[in-house]
Amino acid sequence: MLIACGSGGSGGGGPSATHSHTPPSIPAQNGFPATVNSASNPATEDKFVLGRALFYEPKLSGNGTQSCASCHQQDKAFTDGRPLAIGSTGETHPRNAQGLANVVYHATLTWANPVMTELERQMEVPMFGENPVEMGINDSNKVEVLNRIRQDTQYAILFKKAFPQDVDAISFVNIIAAISTFERGLISSDSRYDQYLRKKTTLNDSELRGMNLFMGEKAECFHCHGSFNFNDQVRYAGLSQIDTPFHNTGLYNIDGKGGFPFPNRGLFEFTSKVQDMGAFRAPSLRNVAVTAPYMHDGSIKTLAEVIDFYAAGGRVISSGIYSGDGRQNPYKSDLVNRISLSEQDKIDLINFLGTLTDQKFLSNPRFANPH
Ligand code: HEC
Ligand code: HEC
Repeated sequence: MLIACGSGGSGGGGPSATHSHTPPSIPAQNGFPATVNSASNPATEDKFVLGRALFYEPKLSGNGTQSCASCHQQDKAFTDGRPLAIGSTGETHPRNAQGLANVVYHATLTWANPVMTELERQMEVPMFGENPVEMGINDSNKVEVLNRIRQDTQYAILFKKAFPQDVDAISFVNIIAAISTFERGLISSDSRYDQYLRKKTTLNDSELRGMNLFMGEKAECFHCHGSFNFNDQVRYAGLSQIDTPFHNTGLYNIDGKGGFPFPNRGLFEFTSKVQDMGAFRAPSLRNVAVTAPYMHDGSIKTLAEVIDFYAAGGRVISSGIYSGDGRQNPYKSDLVNRISLSEQDKIDLINFLGTLTDQKFLSNPRFANPH
């Protein structure tokens, strides 16, 4: 039986389709739209259980030291608390590890990659990538990595259940299918804000003022973080058009011409078009109070500093190799402008963002390390 969502759904398995028009889908959860299920990798509870074990499995790295969970920790909404992630061999990743809450709803994956749309494809990057090395699985150790898993009798049982048709079920294809199924089940839809929408709780005055600021034309946050998932790149069952905007928020301007530091120039890394310089996907702000530090390179430490950054309409860096006035970045979004916010307004915004923390998600045993 398919259950990719926390509170247990039904359905799935349905007719094969790859597009969002007629997808087999998981029913809406707590007011969220139904998710697009994978036609080539339909979710089952057994795959989810195996995927969870593998997500937390350090045997799944070249040197046996790192799992997905090393960089995606549940109590931090599946981020790692570092500015930049560090791989199994000690290499520093150029970007900040992203949270995985509601990742099934993301129209594109990672900070700025317009063509990365499937979890199965994304996973090949941390597992096999060499630039940087993350989990460090390569041609010289991949047989050994699979053997480590074969030698574990628990896995023999879990793989058999998840892939009953396969003669030799322990393969990278099946590992990827199982972990993707686990990821599709990581639904966070029970924050205090969600409970407030369902009239199960109330928000205090400061939180309500913050909500109105966030959703209003003064602070303009909702333009880019306004979906049910607090971002602006969502995909779900039945959606006829999927938008994938990327935005330059004025974090850098290292050459006075709008430049961002390599290899973090956002969409420009893919398109080489100057107007895409510094354009990143707006992250979901669900659980954002526990995912510090912030931005694609972890360069802002606290939510208070993020709010100051938006209030200033960009970031001024006054010394060092990245110095420059991001407020004057010519490619900055028209929606990021100086906002006149009082100290109380700033506190209210931060308090509102705090209502997006879903304590049940952060401690749900269903998503925790099973080993
Ligand atoms: C070394 C730390 C590290 C490890 C290990 C790691 N990740 Fe990540 N993960 C990252 C970073 C950094 C990003 C952002 C990548 C980028 O933008 O280029 C990311 C992004 C992602 C995303 C995209 C999320 C989004 O919002 O679009 C997914 C999904 C993901 N990782 C899943 C996994 C899975 C599954 C594994 C294990 C197979 C894994 N990661 C292992 C650091 C890591
Ligand atoms: C033009 C679209 C846009 C607007 C308007 C906007 N944001 Fe963002 N936001 C983004 C993008 C893009 C990023 C990621 C930027 C990067 O890493 O380079 C981001 C990042 C963030 C982050 C960091 C999240 C993380 O996980 O690192 C927070 C918090 C945030 N925004 C809050 C807000 C608030 C509060 C407002 C209103 C004052 C706002 N945003 C307005 C697009 C926008």
